[in-house]
Amino acid sequence: MKLLQDVIFITGGGQRIGAFLVKQFLAETNYPVVFTYRTPRTQVDELVALGAIAIQIDFMDKEVLPGLVKSIQKRVGSLRGVIHNASLWLPDVMDVNDSQEIEAGCFETLFQLHVRTPYFLNNALQPLLKKSTSPLKDIISISDYSVERASSENIAYLASKAALQNMCKGFAKKFAPIIKVNDIAPALILFNEGDSDSYKQKRLAQSALGIEPGPIVVWQAVQYLMNSSYTTGTVLPLEGGRSLL
Ligand SMILES: NC(=O)c1ccc[n+]([C@@H]2O[C@H](COP(=O)([O-])OP(=O)(O)OC[C@H]3O[C@@H](n4cnc5c(N)ncnc54)[C@H](OP(=O)(O)O)[C@@H]3O)[C@@H](O)[C@H]2O)c1
Repeated sequence: MKLLQDVIFITGGGQRIGAFLVKQFLAETNYPVVFTYRTPRTQVDELVALGAIAIQIDFMDKEVLPGLVKSIQKRVGSLRGVIHNASLWLPDVMDVNDSQEIEAGCFETLFQLHVRTPYFLNNALQPLLKKSTSPLKDIISISDYSVERASSENIAYLASKAALQNMCKGFAKKFAPIIKVNDIAPALILFNEGDSDSYKQKRLAQSALGIEPGPIVVWQAVQYLMNSSYTTGTVLPLEGGRSLL
């Protein structure tokens, strides 16, 4: 089988922002796209029909990462970009287990997905990024602008996204000058299905621009970072003036 060159690899591409990025890369660029998804859904089939390669994976299984890298290596000769998009939003939960020990149920999950997975993949996929003939090669993570603010209810989530931001700087230093590594830190991009009108109004009032911008603004940020030859190790806020209020 002929290996694909200058591929874009996106985690969590089966819905919403990730799926939008997959579609945009297919429509607006010549880069082949490989993405991961966890939950089978029609949108995944649609992306495959458009030409993307989909790999089903659950990053909660710590053993799957080497297998994922192997299946990428089987099909991909070089990578133009890696986008760490897969994410979960979980509130802090403290569980008491059978032996009456307190466990932070969400903590392992969030750090596995937002920290350990990108850490492993950055190191394991570096050789494929280096093989790209493109003069620019990128790793982009998607964190969360809320890292800038304190929350008493989402401590583990924000700590894991803060670690993701910090990791971007470390890898930017480690992989320079060959691979740029940046992070996008979005505030509100897209409401979730079922968000109430009062919740929506509250969230919209939190930014100076006061809109739900949709995934197009993430695509614009990805484009900026990938086209820039002088940006690495940055956390790019995408927050509609949230910091002004
Ligand atoms: N939406 C916003 O307004 C907003 C705001 C701030 C930051 N962000 C960030 O922007 C990115 C995209 O946001 P989004 O709203 O599109 O996220 P989303 O709808 O929650 O999608 C994230 C994807 O991550 C995948 N995922 C979750 N747990 C996984 C696991 N254990 N193994 C493998 N994949 C897993 C999910 O896969 P399946 O669906 O296949 O299960 C899902 O498609 C995320 O990093 C998010 O934190 C978004």
